Amino acid sequence: MEYGRTVLVTGGAGYIGSHACKALRAAGFTPVAGDNLVYGHPWAVRWGPLERGDIADRAWLDGLFARYRPVAVMHFAAYAYVGESVQDPGKYYRNNVAGTLTLLEAARDHGLAAFIFSSTCATYGVPARVPITEDCPQVPINPYGASKLMIERMLADFETAHGLRSMVLRYFNAAGADPDGEIGEDHDPETHLIPLAITAALGQGPELALFGDDYPTPDGTAVRDYIHVSDLARAHVLALEDLLAGGASAALNLGTGQGASVREVVRAVEAVAGRPVPARVAPRRAGDPPVLVADPTRARARLGWQPVYTDLTEIVATAWRWQAGRGGVGPVGN
Ligand SMILES: NC(=O)c1ccc[n+]([C@@H]2O[C@H](COP(=O)([O-])OP(=O)(O)OC[C@H]3O[C@@H](n4cnc5c(N)ncnc54)[C@H](O)[C@@H]3O)[C@@H](O)[C@H]2O)c1
Repeated sequence: MEYGRTVLVTGGAGYIGSHACKALRAAGFTPVAGDNLVYGHPWAVRWGPLERGDIADRAWLDGLFARYRPVAVMHFAAYAYVGESVQDPGKYYRNNVAGTLTLLEAARDHGLAAFIFSSTCATYGVPARVPITEDCPQVPINPYGASKLMIERMLADFETAHGLRSMVLRYFNAAGADPDGEIGEDHDPETHLIPLAITAALGQGPELALFGDDYPTPDGTAVRDYIHVSDLARAHVLALEDLLAGGASAALNLGTGQGASVREVVRAVEAVAGRPVPARVAPRRAGDPPVLVADPTRARARLGWQPVYTDLTEIVATAWRWQAGRGGVGPVGN
C-alpha cells in the first residue's frame, strides 16, 4: 500500500490521537504524531513517526511542516481536566488557546488546506435542550470548555481571512479501547468513569466515587453519551477525506445519541468484570450538568458516519480487555 499522504497529528501519543493514528494508517495516510509527551506515551505511537515537541514552539512546527509537508492537521493536543481548568485557568488558556494560535499561524504560513479540531460537548455548558444539536447555544461553564470555544472562533476567523477549512468535532465522552488491544486509555491522573470503575473492580485503586445521586434523572445519577474511541477515530478519517475532497467547514457532534447513567456504567463494568465495583455516593461536583447526550444526526448526514459500538457493555468490554490485560502499565513501558 502507498503511504503517501502525511497528516500531522498533534497529541498523537495521547488516548484519542493514537487511535486516530491507527485509523489514518489503515486508510492509507502516514500519521506523524507531534506530542510533547506531557501526558502522551511513546508506546502509543505505532503507525508513523513520533516527533517530540510543543505546539507553542513555532520553530519546531516550521520544521515539521517543511519536512513532512502534511496535507492536513488533526489537532488533539490540549489539556483536558475540567477541575484543574477551574483552579488554574491560565494553564488552559496558555496551552489550549495560545498553543493552538501558534499552530494555526504555522498552518496558515505553510499553506495548509485542512484542519480537524478536537472540540467538546463542554462548549455547550448546561445545555438548553437534550439531545444536543450543533446549533444549541454554546455557553461553557468552565475554562476548559471556554478554551475550546475560543479555538472554534479562531478557526472561523482563520477561514474568513486565510481560507483554512476546518472540521470541528465536538466529542461527548470518549470511551473504550482499540478492539485489537494494541492501545487504550492511560491517563495520569485518571478522571474518566469507566477506567476508574475498572480499577476499583480490579482492587487496584480506591472505591469509585459516584458524584451525585439526586439528579433529575431516572436513577438519580448523571447521564452521559459514551462514544467508542475507534468510532471517534473513524469519524476523523471521514472528516479528513471530506475536507480533502473540497468539503466546506463544519461543526459536528460525535456521540451515539444514547445516554447512560453512572449507575448503568457501573452495572456494565460489573457484568464484564464478573465482580462488584466497590463504590460510594459523593456530593455532586460543581458544574456537572445532569444530562449530556448528543444528537449526532448532522455527522451521519455529512460524513455517512455511524457509531459501530452502540452497546455500552461492548464498549466497556474493550476497555476491560485493555486495562485488565496489562496490569496497569503500557505494553512497552512508560
Ligand atoms: N477524552 C474525552 O472524553 C474527550 C472529550 C472531548 C474532547 N476531548 C479532546 O480530545 C483531545 C484528546 O483527548 P485525550 O483524552 O486523548 O487526551 P490525552 O491527554 O490522552 O491526549 C492529549 C495529548 O496532547 C499532548 N499535549 C498536550 N499539550 C501539548 C502541547 N502543548 N504540545 C504537544 N503536545 C501536547 C499530551 O501529551 C497528550 O499526549 C483533547 O483535545 C481533548 O480536549 C477529549
